[in-house]
Amino acid sequence: MPPAPLFTPPSELLFALAEDLPTPALVYDLPGIRAGVRAMARDIALIPDARLNLALKACHTPALLREMAALGLGCDIASPGELDLALAAGFTEVSATGPVFAGADFDLLAGHGITLDCDSLDQLDDYGGRRPGTEVGLRVRVTLPRSLEDTATFAGDSRFGVAPADPGLGEVLERHRLRVTRLHVHTGQMTPASLRYKVRYLLTVAEHLPEVRVIDLGGGFFHLYRDRAQAVAALTDAASQVADWRERTGRPVALRFEPGGALLTPYGYLVTRVRSVEEHHPVFGTRVVTLDASAWNLAPWHNRPQVLALHGAPPTGPALLAGCTLYENDFFGAVPGAARTALEVPHCRRGDRLVVTATGAYTMTNARWFNRIPPPREHLFDGERMTAADALPATAGAAR
Ligand SMILES: Cc1ncc(COP(=O)(O)O)c(C=O)c1O
Repeated sequence: MPPAPLFTPPSELLFALAEDLPTPALVYDLPGIRAGVRAMARDIALIPDARLNLALKACHTPALLREMAALGLGCDIASPGELDLALAAGFTEVSATGPVFAGADFDLLAGHGITLDCDSLDQLDDYGGRRPGTEVGLRVRVTLPRSLEDTATFAGDSRFGVAPADPGLGEVLERHRLRVTRLHVHTGQMTPASLRYKVRYLLTVAEHLPEVRVIDLGGGFFHLYRDRAQAVAALTDAASQVADWRERTGRPVALRFEPGGALLTPYGYLVTRVRSVEEHHPVFGTRVVTLDASAWNLAPWHNRPQVLALHGAPPTGPALLAGCTLYENDFFGAVPGAARTALEVPHCRRGDRLVVTATGAYTMTNARWFNRIPPPREHLFDGERMTAADALPATAGAAR
């Protein structure tokens, strides 16, 4: 029997309780998140000693992070600010990579037992100058074969990472007597085929770096999990590659995975109210529905969400779903090259509540304050109750 899909839909109660929330509100469905994390962690456990971590860049909501840590996830951080969040949430395993880390951050991370994965030769040189003779990680730039590249991948065309064959690498490592213990990649969206390729590639690189113990394969699980059976097949294949490698080299090695979007995106519901409806825009040639939340401020990367009515099931039709800033291109569901992308939107009137789905990740961590419009309040739905979950700065609350 094929494995069950990862996504668990929310109970009707979430939507019933959302009727009473001041809008806009961002609701996270905890039962869905828990089921998704457990299912994904079970798949990852097909590989001995492998672990599932959360890319913290996708979520900065302390109450939700505590949940994720309690579910047994580790996390990957991209800044000292994210380190504070990770420690406060109780994550016990933390990895780190990002160009922002410098100087005293290196000691701060080491003080917490975190080995930075340096993502450029200059950062590695700075790290070695400050912490000679220590362990270090390397973010590696992997070039994927053309057949595994698409518009959602960043491999050879990534601006991050060091090529393992870079002639400068050995020289910097030697000069500072650094020992590479971790390899780290993130290549945008990952497919079952690119997972297999990356595991083979990185195990080969690790053969030449005798102290590597951990290989972190990054995130990008939307494409990996388009078909869960294929994801499971690729993870099973990775498990046998790791077993063969361990046997051949006599060395231990453990894999890490760190999705962000796929762990949280599907479980976030942005509850909004319709501000205005223009049934037929003379130039756009379609309906324009303007909400009391902004896509530009909250959902610039969120492709093609579903839009639901909170009351009943009115018929839907194409519409541009616009945000509430004065930015002309403030539309939900924009895709690269098409700021105005029509979505299927329920027929609605001013004052109706609409829910924009797929807003559980990168919504608050990407939020901007254009027009000084505050971000929405956040709420956790635990299957029975709705609890306020945000930790907004006092000034944001005062502005409401
Ligand atoms: C190093 C690293 N790991 C993991 C992720 C998470 O990616 P995603 O949310 O697509 O799973 C990112 C995203 O930018 C990243 O840069």
